[in-house]
Amino acid sequence: MSEDIKKTISELHIYEKKLLKELESNPKATPEDIANNTGMDIKSVMSAAGSLAAKSIIEVDKKVEETYSLTESGLKYAEEGLPERKILDVLIDKNQINMKDLADEAGIDKQETGIAIGWLRRKNWAQIDKGVVNITDFGKDFASKIDVDEKVLDYLKSNADGVKLFTDDLVDGFKKLTGRKNILNVEKETSHSFKLLPKGKAILEHGFTIKQQATQLTHEHLKDGEWKHLEYRPYDIQAESPIKFAGKKHPLRIIIDEIREIFLNMGFSEDNGEFVESAFWNFDSLFQPQDHAAREMQDTFYLKNPLTCDLPDDALVKLTAETHETGADTGSIGWQYDWSEDIARQSVLRTHTTGISTKHLYEHEPPIKMFSVGRVFRRETFDYKHLPEFHQVEGLVCDEGISYQNLLGTLKEFYKKLGFEVRFRPAYFPYTYLSTETEIYLEEKESWIELGGAGMFRPEVLKPLGINQPALAFGLGIERLAMIRYDVEDIRMLYKSDIKWLRELPTVNGVKL
Ligand code: DAH
Repeated sequence: MSEDIKKTISELHIYEKKLLKELESNPKATPEDIANNTGMDIKSVMSAAGSLAAKSIIEVDKKVEETYSLTESGLKYAEEGLPERKILDVLIDKNQINMKDLADEAGIDKQETGIAIGWLRRKNWAQIDKGVVNITDFGKDFASKIDVDEKVLDYLKSNADGVKLFTDDLVDGFKKLTGRKNILNVEKETSHSFKLLPKGKAILEHGFTIKQQATQLTHEHLKDGEWKHLEYRPYDIQAESPIKFAGKKHPLRIIIDEIREIFLNMGFSEDNGEFVESAFWNFDSLFQPQDHAAREMQDTFYLKNPLTCDLPDDALVKLTAETHETGADTGSIGWQYDWSEDIARQSVLRTHTTGISTKHLYEHEPPIKMFSVGRVFRRETFDYKHLPEFHQVEGLVCDEGISYQNLLGTLKEFYKKLGFEVRFRPAYFPYTYLSTETEIYLEEKESWIELGGAGMFRPEVLKPLGINQPALAFGLGIERLAMIRYDVEDIRMLYKSDIKWLRELPTVNGVKL
């Protein structure tokens, strides 16, 4: 507690200290008293009080006081009588008056007659019958009596400075008058009072000195050496401040850059491939038979322009055809069908980044360590899990002596750098053997989820490409990764440009800005 109090005292502004001292010697001191005694202006007193109240050191009480006085027409009524009184005076003489003669006889304005009649009835001084106003017995009584509202008018007339409180005998009359327009003036005055709270008392008990503190260090202070003698007011580093949203990269871009950096640090080089590719590279080079379901129009975007792509070297095309048809010299019997060049020539929007791996193998000599990050396209209908356009990462290693163990090791390391623990489960892809799917562990969900495919390229893939060394390859979807990392349930969120969501996203490793 006392440490807390010391800290609070050290952070008090000189005005706050002065205000507290004043309240110590006079707990009833008003803001005006404090201003007078300390030489502070009222604004400073109030702002110091506000800041003390925010720290629960004092309580600020606000009171609004109303002062009533007569308006110009109120004063006229007080002097000459209310219009209904003027009519009553005539009625006492004559007992009745014709409505049409009312204004003239009573000497009131025509516009006032309506109101006057209303009050005559309400006060039960008169009754109206077929255009004639007749005095009541009750009204006759008032010949010599003053009504409650008339008393108040009188009272206000003799208290020209205004009245704050009406005594019990005047309250009813006052209420009657407030129901009438343009008789009473109200002036509101707000006043504040302060009360020391326990924390404030503890501060005063502990005690403090009031010394001018520097909130700024000026050029002069430095020049004349004054800085050595100044007392500095410490910063309140816990003070609330407005939230600032720094400019930052889109979450997908952050992940892509991070993945790129991981690969580069692991000694991989980048190859981006093309969005438009031949079915040959996207499917055939991966030993995917030409009647494979993934090639169907429902799954793949086929292009009209260009309708076809050039095929690579005859030798490669021939070998690929043979491998599909009979297995050639790969040790397999192939898919046992007639391979078509026309189907291989079809141009597609790439459905995965794995075609980049086979093309890269064909165009480069091992040892090879290649990765790519890029868009892929599939005929998916939009929903919370699917987009027709998304991003994939592909990794490829090809060298003498590479084994399935190296694949698992590479995957483990790659995912570890992304912050995930992994496990492997057997899988099938037409282009790999052995094949695996990588699962990552989600602590919050206490479950494993599948994130990517991987495997050792089959001889049916490697041999036609002229590769005699083993090759491992793996792929994964980036949006999936982003959804996990940023806790997004709907994949479309990543493309929505929801500015609030983007602003509040953690930038790096959960650090919120
Ligand atoms: N191409 C696969 C996909 O789109 C992912 C994949 C699986 C990539 C196995 C690979 C691999 O390189 O070996 O889901």
